Amino acid sequence: MTPPAPRFVEVGPRDGLQNEPRAVPLEAKVAFVNLLSRSGLREIEAGAFVSPKAVPQMADSDQVFARIDRQSGVLYSALVPNERGLERALEAKIGKAAVFTAASETFNQKNINCSITESIERFKPVIQRADALRLPLRAYISTAFFCPYEGYVAPDKVVPVVDRLCALGVKELSIGDTIGRASPKDVRALLDVLLKRVRVECVFLHFHDTFGMAIANALTAWNEYGVSGFDASTGGVGGCPYAPGAGGNVAMEDLVFAFAASGAKVDVDVRKLQDAGSLIEKHLGHLMPSRLSKIALR
Ligand code: HMG
Ligand code: MG
Repeated sequence: MTPPAPRFVEVGPRDGLQNEPRAVPLEAKVAFVNLLSRSGLREIEAGAFVSPKAVPQMADSDQVFARIDRQSGVLYSALVPNERGLERALEAKIGKAAVFTAASETFNQKNINCSITESIERFKPVIQRADALRLPLRAYISTAFFCPYEGYVAPDKVVPVVDRLCALGVKELSIGDTIGRASPKDVRALLDVLLKRVRVECVFLHFHDTFGMAIANALTAWNEYGVSGFDASTGGVGGCPYAPGAGGNVAMEDLVFAFAASGAKVDVDVRKLQDAGSLIEKHLGHLMPSRLSKIALR
């Protein structure tokens, strides 16, 4: 059976830029999102309505949303940690909200200053409000394979978090390898358990690429399990400020190239992703890790 067409979620403007030491100007963020919007990508996480003290890099997300040139057929989403974040996000006219928790307690405390149970309590009114407004929503589960503080995270730590989110009506899960350490073996171990509980269409995988295994992981999930949802960040930049040692997300241009080369039906133009990457690279003060940012395609 041919695996389904991949569905890519671009997280570069959020996950990619949230950990950059140098401040990226607002106009560059807007131009980055606009170029990504014209690449064939259908969903772009364009910012985060989190505490500006926690992540100053995302403090101007409301202005990013106000200034982007929204393309029809493209969904512009944002991270929302609580009701306050949702209010700000609704004012900014987001097209989709993303709540976020974790499978390891220590990471969750460091990242959002509460336990996993408390974070899910905080999401309840956010999920209810999004539901009432018919606003699409996803929930991230970070550290679903490894935690920067607790080490290996077994699938049986992820399952209860998945169950609680699904019980609240969450229909889309993004399962995070926050520190980019998972291998195909770990991906199989989790999917063997997870896909007995949730439909494969509900699952997105969010691989950081610290150890260079993200593309192998994504192709394993797609080929062997029929998972079609993948998050990635153009240029492969970023990481989480509360996950020490985490590399950037797998680069979108590398992932798209890998899927196309493996025979997937892909509607995203890799050259346009390269253009978006070159634009943002000028503002970072360092080279981007993606392979395809260094290759001229013919
Ligand atoms: P807290 O300190 O526990 O919350 O932070 P609080 O309610 O006591 O508020 C503290 C201050 O923040 C107050 O301001 C609030 O008004 C303000 P003060 O009185 O001190 O001036 N505040 C807000 N301001 C703006 N927007 C808001 C908001 N909420 C409170 N929404 C909180 C809890 C969750 C807010 C904080 O810890 C936070 O914002 N954390 C965000 C951390 C973050 O963004 N991490 C990176 C994203 S997650 C990630 O990268 C992983 C992922 O990519 C998947 C993966 O790779 O695994 C998704
Ligand atoms: Mg991430």
